[in-house]
Amino acid sequence: NWTMDDFIDMQVKEIREKVGDKKVILGLSGGVDSSVTAVLIHKAIGDQLTCIFVDHGLLRKNEADQVMNALNRDLGVNIIKVDAADRFLGQLKGVTDPEKKRKIIGKEFVEVFNEEAKKMDDAEFLAQGTLYTDVIESGTDTAQTIKSHHNVGGLPKKLGFKLIEPLRSLFKDETRELGEKLGIPHELVWRQPFPGPGLGIRVIGEITPEKLEIVRESDAILREEIAKAGLDEKIWQYFTVLPGIRSVGVMGDGRTYDYAVAIRAVTSIDGMTADFAKIPWDVLQKISVRIVNEVDHVNRILYDVTSKPPSTIEYE
Ligand code: XMP
Repeated sequence: NWTMDDFIDMQVKEIREKVGDKKVILGLSGGVDSSVTAVLIHKAIGDQLTCIFVDHGLLRKNEADQVMNALNRDLGVNIIKVDAADRFLGQLKGVTDPEKKRKIIGKEFVEVFNEEAKKMDDAEFLAQGTLYTDVIESGTDTAQTIKSHHNVGGLPKKLGFKLIEPLRSLFKDETRELGEKLGIPHELVWRQPFPGPGLGIRVIGEITPEKLEIVRESDAILREEIAKAGLDEKIWQYFTVLPGIRSVGVMGDGRTYDYAVAIRAVTSIDGMTADFAKIPWDVLQKISVRIVNEVDHVNRILYDVTSKPPSTIEYE
């Protein structure tokens, strides 16, 4: 009958024994798993842990600041934030194929991480937020065959570190409980899933700074209104997508020819199958009005009413 407190004590002891006076690095994405891993290890060994947080420029609005404030400023975790947006966008310039985009983002991520890790040549361990479900699913992950998944847990073994994976026996809900026990803010611990390639797979086709801005701003409005309506923990995942089509609209006396933004919101247990979420019309109306009024170059909002299968949750 173990409690979360026992788990923390046990892990702290184990991590200290394993690491000794050596150094540990961790790829921080800002997601639940890597954040909880970071704070747990920090509790055990303090500044012997260094986290590398690669900001690929494809994060949501305010996301990087939120992560830095919660983990670095408030909890004292040692984090090196690498602003690599220009580099990622440069590599992605002109690329339209979804799988190519995913591969480039994944490869670039490993390279940036590796460059930072090399600067800390005295680090012996790599910490990863592997959960129990990752352990049993590895090798049988059908999602990987449909889309090449990228996340910070996917750093190649050849980087040559010894692994530390303190969450290997935990499920997601236990990981969230642990995160709250460790003092990570509720909003971070209960946030919706966010894919490793980030907003890069929510701008369909070529990624440009202008299109990223539209997706980032519209997504922020959507999240704000969903939270206001009290739906943020009822809907599994909700975000906006820029399908890249433009259409004719009317504003005042004038004709517009601007982008359409799609809203994707789903309910799900594990992301393997999903139903489109039945967000009340009045909430959707508010979101629609706000996005068109507040985000430049948008004159139409579409609501996605397909389930998975046959669609996937993300568009690329
Ligand atoms: P799909 O689009 O395949 O998504 O229905 C299923 C779930 O997986 C998330 N997703 C990813 N997560 N790296 C991740 O860590 C990825 O490359 C990736 N691609 C999709 C998606 O957001 C959804 O929750």
